[in-house]
Amino acid sequence: MEVILITGATSGIGEALAYRLAKKKRNLLLVARNEQKLKQQCEQLSNQNGITASYIVADLSKPETAYYVFEEAKKRNLSVNVLVNNAGIGSSGEFVNNNLQSELEMLQLNNSSLVALCHLFLPEMKNNKNGTIINVGSMASFFPSPYMSVYAASKMFVRSFTQALTEECKPYGVNVMLFCPGFTSSNFMNTAANNNEWGKILVKGAYTQTPEQVAAEMIKALEKKKTFHVSGFQNAMLAKIGSLIPYSTITSVFAQRKRKEMGL
Ligand SMILES: NC(=O)c1ccc[n+]([C@@H]2O[C@H](COP(=O)([O-])OP(=O)(O)OC[C@H]3O[C@@H](n4cnc5c(N)ncnc54)[C@H](OP(=O)(O)O)[C@@H]3O)[C@@H](O)[C@H]2O)c1
Repeated sequence: MEVILITGATSGIGEALAYRLAKKKRNLLLVARNEQKLKQQCEQLSNQNGITASYIVADLSKPETAYYVFEEAKKRNLSVNVLVNNAGIGSSGEFVNNNLQSELEMLQLNNSSLVALCHLFLPEMKNNKNGTIINVGSMASFFPSPYMSVYAASKMFVRSFTQALTEECKPYGVNVMLFCPGFTSSNFMNTAANNNEWGKILVKGAYTQTPEQVAAEMIKALEKKKTFHVSGFQNAMLAKIGSLIPYSTITSVFAQRKRKEMGL
């Protein structure tokens, strides 16, 4: 059976995406850590939409987990023809004070597991000459960001990797899309690493979309077979304008503004 695999499907953008795709009668394979939520979501999605929604409980901040997800999908005879690498966490604060283990786990989740899942699921898409990979970046994919330095670097990695992979996959008929949300009212800022004074400054007064708006844009971009999309018109403009300004200017302005807000 063909399925759309969504990582990070229990909350925010991934959850909104799952609900919208289920309404479009797409079968789903949801991946996240919260088993209770996954079970409840899959029952609801299946019952309400007449689709098959199943789940894999997996912690993608561990190096071996992507292989487990792949093997589990194979064992269940599920053919992943759309892979949405959406699971991701952030961290805010001064790099020198941040918890190193948490930063490294974030890189595993945001980058290494994303790369591993692309590598594992791509061969079948290539053989079928059909398939889509959506990697979720961020507005942080466009600028180095002092006081969220590792997160922004992880999302710049996602951008660079995905845009290169897009070209490599064109001859195979596999569409690879970089999808970049801006601020979105999800659980993202409520995690331990983000829910601090530095994180609060970051979102203060910022243009913010709902997960439903972001998911709707992602589905439109998927249906149009786009290879790149920034969610939200204002974000798209900001990314364009930002690309004209040197990184050194951007980082200096970001850092000074944040220090001023923190009274440093
Ligand atoms: N919200 C924003 O402002 C914003 C802006 C730009 C980009 N983004 C990006 O958008 C994506 C989705 O974020 P969101 O805003 O929807 O955040 P969210 O509401 O916090 O959702 C994150 C999802 O990832 C899952 N997840 C977290 N750690 C995981 C792990 N170790 N293993 C497996 N799954 C894990 C969570 O589920 P469990 O807890 O059940 O594992 C949850 O389903 C991320 O890649 C994020 O970087 C968000």
